[in-house]
Amino acid sequence: MAGFLKRTHTCGELTRQDVGKKVILNGWIKSWRDHGGLIFIDLRDRYGITQVVFNPEKNKALHELAGKLRNEFVISAQGLVELRPEGTINKELSTGEIDLVAERIEVLNKSRTTPFEILDDLTVNEELRLQYRYLDLRRPGLQKKLILRSEVYNVVRNYLHENNFVEIETPFLMKSTPEGARDFLVPSRNYQGRFYALPQSPQTYKQILMVAGFDRYFQIVKCFRDEDLRKDRQPEFTQIDIEMSFVEEEDVIGLAEGLIKMVYRFVKGIDLKEPFPRVTYDEAMHLYGSDKPDLRFTLKIQDLTSLFAHTEFKVFGSVVSSGGIIGGLRLPDGAYFGRNNLDRLTEFVKKLGAHGLVWLRNKNGILEGPAAKFISAGEQRALQESAGLAPGEIILILAGATEDTLFKLGELRLKLAEDLTLIDTTVDNFLWMVNFPMLEFDHEEARFVARHHPFTSPKPEDIPLLESSPEKVKARAYDLVMNGNEIAGGSIRIHRRDMQKKVFHMLNISDSEAEEKFGFLLNALDYGAPPHGGVAFGFDRMLMLLSDSRSIRDVIAFPKTSSGLSLMDGAPSNVEQKQLDELGIKLAKEKIKII
Ligand code: AMO
Repeated sequence: MAGFLKRTHTCGELTRQDVGKKVILNGWIKSWRDHGGLIFIDLRDRYGITQVVFNPEKNKALHELAGKLRNEFVISAQGLVELRPEGTINKELSTGEIDLVAERIEVLNKSRTTPFEILDDLTVNEELRLQYRYLDLRRPGLQKKLILRSEVYNVVRNYLHENNFVEIETPFLMKSTPEGARDFLVPSRNYQGRFYALPQSPQTYKQILMVAGFDRYFQIVKCFRDEDLRKDRQPEFTQIDIEMSFVEEEDVIGLAEGLIKMVYRFVKGIDLKEPFPRVTYDEAMHLYGSDKPDLRFTLKIQDLTSLFAHTEFKVFGSVVSSGGIIGGLRLPDGAYFGRNNLDRLTEFVKKLGAHGLVWLRNKNGILEGPAAKFISAGEQRALQESAGLAPGEIILILAGATEDTLFKLGELRLKLAEDLTLIDTTVDNFLWMVNFPMLEFDHEEARFVARHHPFTSPKPEDIPLLESSPEKVKARAYDLVMNGNEIAGGSIRIHRRDMQKKVFHMLNISDSEAEEKFGFLLNALDYGAPPHGGVAFGFDRMLMLLSDSRSIRDVIAFPKTSSGLSLMDGAPSNVEQKQLDELGIKLAKEKIKII
């Protein structure tokens, strides 16, 4: 016999069919009303809400007890299912046709007054919600997202098992191989002064599993990166990590498209059209100023550099002579482009580091704008004729070093799309980004680093350029972009030691450094490593987009804040001196109290 009245049904289950049954419900009190003597309680669990009624005429003592109940008490309610009187039926609730007329209740636990109401449309600040995450997670909207997450794990696992993949766990305590983001380190007690690192991704392990012959591996796995956080980033996040042997780009891309198609059908009930379009890195940068372009709106960057090749306008002239780019975004002129907004847009690009924003509007064939007087008649004509600046249109122009200016134009493009609501949010846009350069310049470190990771294979036709012009070498890498967000990335890997060595050289990683950091992988490549490649989906990011959430935190049960804190349990926290002593760690700075 249970120590309490155990539920016979959930709070989302009872309908007209159950009228006359004696049942028990367990749940939380969502709300409480006294209507002329009758007390009504909405009882909530994760399945739904059922109205429980207390009638003083039927049971006075019980009615008195009900009067003492408060929101978020957790109770057991036993009673009879009755049809609601005509006119009180609630069509919005699955249980809206019935009441549970209470005969007995047990208070299983009381609750203090909650710091915010458990409602979906809350305006309370997120920090308070994160501090009381157990209450936040009681909200039906968030519960729905986490339940969806659980169901999507299942869809993914089924799809990959059906395609002959083996699920294998790889270690969380691994060797530190800093490349890309910063590692989270874990000190070793047995080997003082030495550290494990938490994996930024299981990249090296999954490649080694290919050497071992597993052929098709996957894992839904936590990854850890100590990097600057943004709205779509968390220090620990989940990947659907995939690796395959004896494959080329098309095989991995096809498999990944099949996966997202399956998930999309499950979540949205819509069949996506395959294959997704492919966009090259150069095209995306030049037309959209981004390596993850949002193509739900068509606005394109126009390259105006040749049009201003012989300009007298100093601002543009100096850019042309230094080999930079002059790029513009052309839009219909309108009320939005008044003085105030143009000033605001100028501020926006200045914050990105641009010197200023040049704008020119075509008023019935005559160009207007502060810079118009510096632009020759010939250039004005060319802007209208070859660049297509028609009467009633405006063009916003940035000039400077090529890649940098294109990125800024890309940001401006997104800002304009938001301000002018250019984005068609009724459709989702998927595309593959391909033909990435192998290298990107790391301004912090002032050197070239691998754009994806150092194990990515160069395009075979570019191998002769590895030593002479490394910046021109393209990678066998691909990213999946959804609505302007990178939701997956992968590549065909290097599977031969001699090639891996060449790429390390290109990245300025010396033989001894390569040996020390990646010797285990290089050795594995010596023992019959098959050609292989893979991909990893950002699971949280993908779910955020599929569930129309505004933040990645809405699809993670216990997320960190944007400054990396866990507000509920207070991590990271100070530790006891004894723990530090055991690890042989002495703090350089005084303890900082974290609030
Ligand atoms: P990559 O670093 O591109 O590739 O990561 C794969 C995907 O993971 C997501 N992602 C993140 N999501 C939330 N918070 C973060 N901090 C974060 N960082 C990345 C992105 C990204 O597309 N080992 C390779 C994969 C491979 O080559 O197979 C890797 O980790 O959606």
